[in-house]
Amino acid sequence: MSDATVPPTPPDYTQPGRVPTGPKLITTRFDQPDGYTYDGYVRTGGYTALRKALTEMTPEQVHQEVKTSEMQGRGGAGFPAGTKWGFLPPDVFPRYLVINGDESEPGTYKDRKLMELDPHQLIEGVVIAAYAVRAAQAFLYVRGEMALAQERLAQALNDAYAHNLIGRNILGTDFSVDVVLTWGAGAYIVGEETALIESLEGERGMPRLKPPYFPASKGLYLQPTIVNNVETLSNVPWIVNQSGQAFHDLGAPTSTGMRIFAVSGHVNHPGVFEVPNGITTFRMLFDAPEYCGGVRDGRSVKAFIPGGASAMWFFDEHLDLPLDKPTIDKAGSMLGSGAIVVMDDTTDMVAACWNVVNFFSRESCGKCTPCREGTTWLQRILKRILAGDGRPEDIDLLMDVSESISPGIAWPPRQTTICPLGPSAVSPIASAVRRFRHEFEHYIQHGRAVDGVVTPPIHGVHGGARIHV
Ligand SMILES: Cc1cc2nc3c(=O)[nH]c(=O)nc-3n(C[C@H](O)[C@H](O)[C@H](O)COP(=O)(O)O)c2cc1C
Ligand code: SF4
Repeated sequence: MSDATVPPTPPDYTQPGRVPTGPKLITTRFDQPDGYTYDGYVRTGGYTALRKALTEMTPEQVHQEVKTSEMQGRGGAGFPAGTKWGFLPPDVFPRYLVINGDESEPGTYKDRKLMELDPHQLIEGVVIAAYAVRAAQAFLYVRGEMALAQERLAQALNDAYAHNLIGRNILGTDFSVDVVLTWGAGAYIVGEETALIESLEGERGMPRLKPPYFPASKGLYLQPTIVNNVETLSNVPWIVNQSGQAFHDLGAPTSTGMRIFAVSGHVNHPGVFEVPNGITTFRMLFDAPEYCGGVRDGRSVKAFIPGGASAMWFFDEHLDLPLDKPTIDKAGSMLGSGAIVVMDDTTDMVAACWNVVNFFSRESCGKCTPCREGTTWLQRILKRILAGDGRPEDIDLLMDVSESISPGIAWPPRQTTICPLGPSAVSPIASAVRRFRHEFEHYIQHGRAVDGVVTPPIHGVHGGARIHV
């Protein structure tokens, strides 16, 4: 065998101390039993950044620190927070700050942890951000099902009001802001910022067209509005205390700071991990004992979702890519919402694909036809393949329907729809069909999965009544 054909030995991170580490910025209180309480927060340095911002800094200086940090938003698109704040038109008031705590994509749970385990840190970040952008009011929008997060945030808000950290003349300064807690009714689509704004206004949560409804110019009540993710704003107190440059010095120059990833699926220790951004690789995250401690039963990775269910899937050859936004974008996917799902070599790829498509089909708000009809058809075709009733033309049909939702089936996705939810359903199809076409063909020819994979029970297909579509 020539050297060119010898596969390189993958790096070994299975022993402790072999992966880069960094300071914890926003998960320091995760293992403190009272970290979510007012006393626990103040005892561990809480609200010092707010005092510093309001008494020693102008709003412009706070904004400048966030700009210097080059922190990319953690809600999905990765847009730099400081740049976004700068999009507010000068001299248009009132303006609002909206905090997106809807987090409902399969595999995501980092924001829930932040709201449950450190609600005061988020509130401190919210009040500082409201000061920086001169918001008249802030709205905390939490996913409907997150009862504990709502309860703890409500208590934290009451305590913060009681200690003059929110409300009129905060800490004796001229700055005043109210923070309102509200929650959704369990729809994934209200995580999309314009749908969230509709929901806040009391309307049905459906996305608005961009343009003209870019929140920074026409947001809540058609006033200038900043929408930021929970993790994004939770980082703000650290940036104010330590400086934007200190944040920038962590991680990679193209993906600054530390970042939380939520890993689930076939790993030994799923969880949320705050890691050096842009440096840590997927393999480090999966294998290191500090993080996931390896794939279950010593098996190998067949595929993984690198950044939420709407992302294109990655495979073995992507394991050594760093969790760096431009690198992952260039490789044809995204880090998105920071949710990584690992599938080992026993995974039935057709069933996995159906699982994700089924989610998007169910969560489509129905406003535009390619998404409403297209995702439903993708789901139905996959279901009949899984039921053993697949037709020879079904694989091409899946790609054809996908093409009508997202022309070119490329990355970044193009869309015939109002928002990116429709094209999100195309990612699992494109990933699974292109890489594991033989698994689809096997189902269609033999009415069952390829040997060696495990198919989970699927309602209406396995152990239920067969459906014919
Ligand atoms: C279908 C869909 C769902 C989304 N869900 C969320 C969510 O649950 N949480 C979130 O922060 N951003 C979500 N986003 C992104 C938001 O529209 C918005 O970009 C984000 O809240 C901005 O915050 P950031 O700049 O701090 O990242 C979603 C986007 C889409 C298209
Ligand atoms: S793409 Fe889907 S979820 Fe988004 S607006 Fe259209 S129908 Fe609604």
